Amino acid sequence: MTVESGASLLLVGCGKMGGAMLDGWLAAGTASRVVVVDRAGLPPSLAGDARVTLASGADSLPDGFVPDVVVLAVKPQVMEDALPSYRSLVRPGTVFLSIAAGKTIAYFERLLGEGAVVVRSMPNTPAAIGRGMTVAVPNSRVSAAQRALSDRLLRAVGDVAWVEDEGLLDPVTAVSGSGPAYVFFLVEAMAKAGEAAGLPADLALRLARATVSGAGALLDASPQEAADLRKAVTSPNGTTQAALDVLMADDGLQPVMTAAIAAATRRSRELAG
Ligand SMILES: NC(=O)c1ccc[n+]([C@@H]2O[C@H](COP(=O)([O-])OP(=O)(O)OC[C@H]3O[C@@H](n4cnc5c(N)ncnc54)[C@H](OP(=O)(O)O)[C@@H]3O)[C@@H](O)[C@H]2O)c1
Repeated sequence: MTVESGASLLLVGCGKMGGAMLDGWLAAGTASRVVVVDRAGLPPSLAGDARVTLASGADSLPDGFVPDVVVLAVKPQVMEDALPSYRSLVRPGTVFLSIAAGKTIAYFERLLGEGAVVVRSMPNTPAAIGRGMTVAVPNSRVSAAQRALSDRLLRAVGDVAWVEDEGLLDPVTAVSGSGPAYVFFLVEAMAKAGEAAGLPADLALRLARATVSGAGALLDASPQEAADLRKAVTSPNGTTQAALDVLMADDGLQPVMTAAIAAATRRSRELAG
């Protein structure tokens, strides 16, 4: 495989995440050939794309097909059944790249064998629009080139950070994995509070939604940190200051958020296997 020719990939599971990644790889030219295993078949948009073929399972891959990367994008609960049939693909030149929540490197080494080259990663739902945040951790057999290739593949759906300590994937799951839900709840909470302050329900929801998504876009477009943008809209003794005095009090949002992230981290540890 060369960067110019693109990688040879096996995508196991072509649902929301796998499908979004596949679109990104094809658009960026990261993949020269992708074999997809998915019970539902190929998305209609890919019919006729010569780079993509469908296989019904590990035992029906095209003759001579040796993937550089096997991307594991099935639900965690079907991994146990699906994975053992891919043991025959384990070799130093093939990296198994998982995006399955909670499935540890030890789990993949157990089901694939000790020699498996594994990258475990945790994306989040904005990956569906190419705006995901993924954190990845390699096992000891991942080469520099395999890490770079995995990085390019994950980058197709957003930003990527790497950690060496797999234990960090629990707080990562709590912050970026589950995080989009907290932001959606912020919209709900602001709308409910706006309604309590006298706004019609539909207008309150519209304002809250536009404000959260607009502020997110502003943060994204700005080189400034969130704290600087916050200070920029806070005049002394003004309306924003009055709200932030409540939100930033000792018993305000910070202790609630810290407790929420700690609860999610604990749950991630309990569910990991
Ligand atoms: N969605 C997210 O926001 C998100 C975020 C972080 C991590 N993840 C991880 O991403 C992975 C995929 O999630 P998703 O939301 O994309 O799920 P999904 O939309 O359900 O996609 C999974 C796909 O795999 C197919 N499949 C099931 N069994 C299979 C098998 N044995 N071999 C090949 N394909 C099989 C499913 O087909 P059927 O529908 O016919 O079963 C489905 O098309 C999960 O492990 C999840 O933990 C997702």
